[in-house]
Amino acid sequence: MKRMTYKFPALFLAIAAATASAQQTPEFLDQYCLKCHNAEDWAGSLDIEGLNYDNVDHDAEVWEKIVRKVRAGMMPPKGEDRPDRTVMDGFAAQLEDRLDSSVATIPAVPALHRLNRSEYANAIRDIFGIEINVAAMLPKDDASEGFDNIASGLGFSPALIQGYTSTSMKISRAVVGDMTATESSTAYTAPANLAQDQHIEGLPLGTRGGMKFEHNFPLDAEYEFSIRGGFGRNPNIRMDITLDGKHLDVTDARNFRLPVTAGKHDITVGIVDLKRPTGVNDIYGVYSVQGTVDTVEIKGPFNATGPGKTATRDRIIP
Ligand code: HEC
Repeated sequence: MKRMTYKFPALFLAIAAATASAQQTPEFLDQYCLKCHNAEDWAGSLDIEGLNYDNVDHDAEVWEKIVRKVRAGMMPPKGEDRPDRTVMDGFAAQLEDRLDSSVATIPAVPALHRLNRSEYANAIRDIFGIEINVAAMLPKDDASEGFDNIASGLGFSPALIQGYTSTSMKISRAVVGDMTATESSTAYTAPANLAQDQHIEGLPLGTRGGMKFEHNFPLDAEYEFSIRGGFGRNPNIRMDITLDGKHLDVTDARNFRLPVTAGKHDITVGIVDLKRPTGVNDIYGVYSVQGTVDTVEIKGPFNATGPGKTATRDRIIP
């Protein structure tokens, strides 16, 4: 067959045009390989003539072998007619390109991709301008090969769908300012190893320890603040509490109610720094920290007066 195509190119072209699976074997293979690698001689159990050079992805492993043999100068065998190095490398490079681009054109089947919980939180923040604590509201995402944001690792389960449904209900209520909302509580906890014997940046001067956080108040209403910490043995521990930078005058700093407008507000709770050896005798000072702020809990809303005006509502309610 090979000989025929060689001697009667016109006939070959006619057959090629008539056959649907017609293909062109590159001249390089034709000239240097097909002599042995055809259906009849089948040298090395390889019929290169029967391979499809136009769709190298069909027999990619075989074509890879051919690249290697040609690059290594092992085929055509010693003593056979062979072109010089540049022609050999040129053909190998051309075949490599074909192989590479054939891989790129096999489209990957896209899997259904849901947002993981961090992506969900980011989407909510971008749409409504509120931060949600996903770790408390949604189940943890599985990781696949170290990534928690690829479709194959992000499955669905009844618990997950339930989690997202109840989270979205909470978010939608918070966003529109649902006046029928029942009270709930949120607790902010200081890191267990936080040194509370020194001033913490962002808290008022003259305080030590404590914490600063931002809380999203759902409605114009009253809220109950409970502050817990290690003040047990020292009755003189005094706390300094601020709301949006303004000092709050409350009779019982550990438990009080306060009217607050809807939206985000900054809160700081620190301990009034009454006594310390700093600057006097730092090394030998016998000074043990008395009192730490461990948890601040905010409960509410109580006696709501209205949904209030917040940046989020301005954004979604014209
Ligand atoms: C004179 C005959 C002859 C020619 C010409 C020839 N080969 Fe071979 N080829 C063989 C034989 C015999 C084997 C099996 C023994 C071996 O692997 O060395 C083989 C093996 C191979 C194999 C390994 C097959 C396998 O499955 O392991 C590849 C690939 C190959 N040849 C590619 C080529 C290419 C490409 C050309 C042209 C550039 C070529 N050959 C030219 C005779 C030939």
